Amino acid sequence: MVKKHAASITKKTPGLRPGESVRPLISDARVQTRLKQLGKEIRQDFPTEPLHLIGVLKGSVFFLTDLARELGGEVSFDFLSVSSYGSGTDSTGEVKLIKDLDVSIEGKTVIVVEDILDTGLTLKYLLRFFEEKKPKQLRVVVLLDKIERRIADVRADYTGFVIPNEFVVGYGLDYDERYRNLPDVCVLQVGPKGKSKPA
Ligand code: IMP
Ligand code: MG
Repeated sequence: MVKKHAASITKKTPGLRPGESVRPLISDARVQTRLKQLGKEIRQDFPTEPLHLIGVLKGSVFFLTDLARELGGEVSFDFLSVSSYGSGTDSTGEVKLIKDLDVSIEGKTVIVVEDILDTGLTLKYLLRFFEEKKPKQLRVVVLLDKIERRIADVRADYTGFVIPNEFVVGYGLDYDERYRNLPDVCVLQVGPKGKSKPA
């Protein structure tokens, strides 16, 4: 018997919980197009250099793996994981190392790959941490930048998209570990209609 009206979940169907909604902000196609450009920009600056990418878990996983395949040449990568102290969505600026690098970065051309630059406090901590390990060169690429939210005096060398001050999920970015698998970058709304999650 043919099942009628079977629920059809596509890869773009968000796993919404009550009171939550999402609206697309940047499509996966736009992300991929921008990644091709970013790959070229980075390779223009480092045409022949082996590049060592460092992804900040877990938000940067899709970004790093997609970007790595746009770079060409010699590329290696590693991951580290940090968590900011305090709860909720606001960074306190205090950062705890959860997973260290697997291999030394001394003498390497390192590109830190971050999902989103918000207050900049996490990146500021990371840059100090990496600089102590004496890389040959240290650069930062971020997929998204919420410039309005910046507290720390840091900037990315390469930026995918500047976005407004809204809480975003998808393409690796999460809300309570959910929504990372959404292909598009979406604005998350929680609670009363039209109320964006405070970022
Ligand atoms: P920062 O230290 O305030 O720059 O925070 C950076 C980290 O906060 C990012 O790496 C994300 O993990 C998280 N974050 C900041 N804004 C968002 C957002 O809109 N959605 C999901 N995670 C975010
Ligand atoms: Mg992150």
